[in-house]
Amino acid sequence: MCGIIGYIGERQAQPILLDCLKRLEYRGYDSCGIAALSSGIEVYKDAIRVEALAKVVPSLNGTAGIGHTRWATHGEPSQLNAHPHLDCSGNIAVVHNGVINNFQRLKKQLTSEGHNFVSETDTEVIPHLIEKYYDGNLEEAVEAALHDIDGSYAIIVLVAGESRLVAARKDSPLIVGIGDRENFIASDVPAILDYTNRVIYLEDGDVGVITQDNIKVKRNGTEVDREEHKILWSIEDAQKGGYEHFMLKEIHEQPKVIRDTLGGWVSAAEPAVDLAEMMRAGLEALLILACGTSYHAALIGKYIVEELLRIPVRVELASEFNYYGQTLARTGAIVITQSGETADTLKAIKRLKEVGCRVLAITNVVGSTASRIADQTVYTRAGLEISVAATKSFTAQLMVLYWLAMSYSKVEARRSASLLLELRQLPRKVQQVLDNEDTILTCASYLSRYENMLFIGRGINFPVALEGALKLKEISYIHAEGYAAGELKHGPFALLGGDTPVIAILAHDNTYEAMLTNVKEVKARKSAVVALAEEGDEAIGELADFVITVPRVDALFSPVVNSVALQLLAYYIARQRGCPIDFPRNLAKSVTVE
Ligand code: F6R
Repeated sequence: MCGIIGYIGERQAQPILLDCLKRLEYRGYDSCGIAALSSGIEVYKDAIRVEALAKVVPSLNGTAGIGHTRWATHGEPSQLNAHPHLDCSGNIAVVHNGVINNFQRLKKQLTSEGHNFVSETDTEVIPHLIEKYYDGNLEEAVEAALHDIDGSYAIIVLVAGESRLVAARKDSPLIVGIGDRENFIASDVPAILDYTNRVIYLEDGDVGVITQDNIKVKRNGTEVDREEHKILWSIEDAQKGGYEHFMLKEIHEQPKVIRDTLGGWVSAAEPAVDLAEMMRAGLEALLILACGTSYHAALIGKYIVEELLRIPVRVELASEFNYYGQTLARTGAIVITQSGETADTLKAIKRLKEVGCRVLAITNVVGSTASRIADQTVYTRAGLEISVAATKSFTAQLMVLYWLAMSYSKVEARRSASLLLELRQLPRKVQQVLDNEDTILTCASYLSRYENMLFIGRGINFPVALEGALKLKEISYIHAEGYAAGELKHGPFALLGGDTPVIAILAHDNTYEAMLTNVKEVKARKSAVVALAEEGDEAIGELADFVITVPRVDALFSPVVNSVALQLLAYYIARQRGCPIDFPRNLAKSVTVE
């Protein structure tokens, strides 16, 4: 969850570290810090955002350094708990992303050996362990320290008197950026895009030794080759492009994202996804695993695949599946993860592979861990997504699911042809939703005063209700719940009343009449109703307090237009409430801890 950065080269490290940290803030932002190497190590850190740190940090001299932006796991956000952490001598500095499970035992042991701890973090054991083992050979000391550690880590180590950075990873992402007489280490690509687009992805168990001219990667003491990749994202992707927030920019990119994601298959640039082979091999059921917004895409995928492929689909939260889920080798498995680095999802992939399942990953990040450990990967073409709240990546995930299901569809040819036609029109339909922004803004102004909201939908729009509620709660801090509309009367009716508006998501399928009935029931209990409905829907116009219209589409595609409208609604409500939209409190973009 935290973001880490290392620089070594000819330039002063401090401005580069701060610049890269700003781009890493979506991974955590409750405190930050940097360390630079000159004759000794100088550290500056605090429980503030990077921009604030940049204003107060004194000039630290040095052409090598490390930096960190934190999402707290052990110990509250504070100056002492901020990284980098030091050993007793102050000569060894470490930044870390991950969780050290056995830190308490190690801390006790190191304390009894005379080491002095100043923070509550798990990370602090790392510099002390390196101090314990360091006798002039830094690589060996780092390897010995890591040997004692049980947990996940991506670390960068900076040591006084050593003109190199040592980095290592296990279950947390880490890349090396290759520059011209300078090199970088970072949690992910966006951090360094301003400086280079040449990267090496470190693998679990790798230890990298990086100088300004050289990159050496070792595994179990032996040097290994790691392929260099060229990143196609541009630095513009990492900028707001005139929008007030990344989230708004990313919402507006969706027509293009749909085109790009669909276009990717048309150009056959992707490896063929052999779902057909999986089916010939006796695939009788499909399991889809994911977390958060990707889980909601997976739930929508269940409706798509069940309708078009006519096989049962089970959808599980990866975080739950890892503890309770059972599955059979003959089940085809799909995992969906924007970042490709979500710890729970990666653990699920490993678990599935252990029982012999073939795993297809749908991810947005080329070279991500998910893409490397799954049997096959389909990339969404959403481009870099910076806002913590996922929007365009969700839509791109839906596109992949539509495409997969439509490629192996068992529905009659006429329906298939009409679906294909509609799929191609989706960018235009989504643009129509975006063009309706002013209406959504007006509705957002009306809703922004409430502290509780319910989102309801049926069938394929039930997961849309879940996603609408998630988007709203994470960026506006309004308590919102998504419900299957038919379930309201089994409990949530007790919440209805003047203080709890209900957002009703309608589609013209077999659920429509039942939804109208639900809306009437809600109105009878004095809750205001904002309806999301197709243009020309007069019946809902007479019932709801406010109607946001979306263009007419086949109900199978209604999650796309409805979700985009709900993204805008959440965005404008959060904006009205003055929330820090791109960086909601307590959240991080890439959840690399369990
Ligand atoms: C919410 C959001 C998260 C992610 C979740 C999984 O807007 O972005 O709920 O969807 O953390 O992340 P990925 O898809 O990277 O595995």
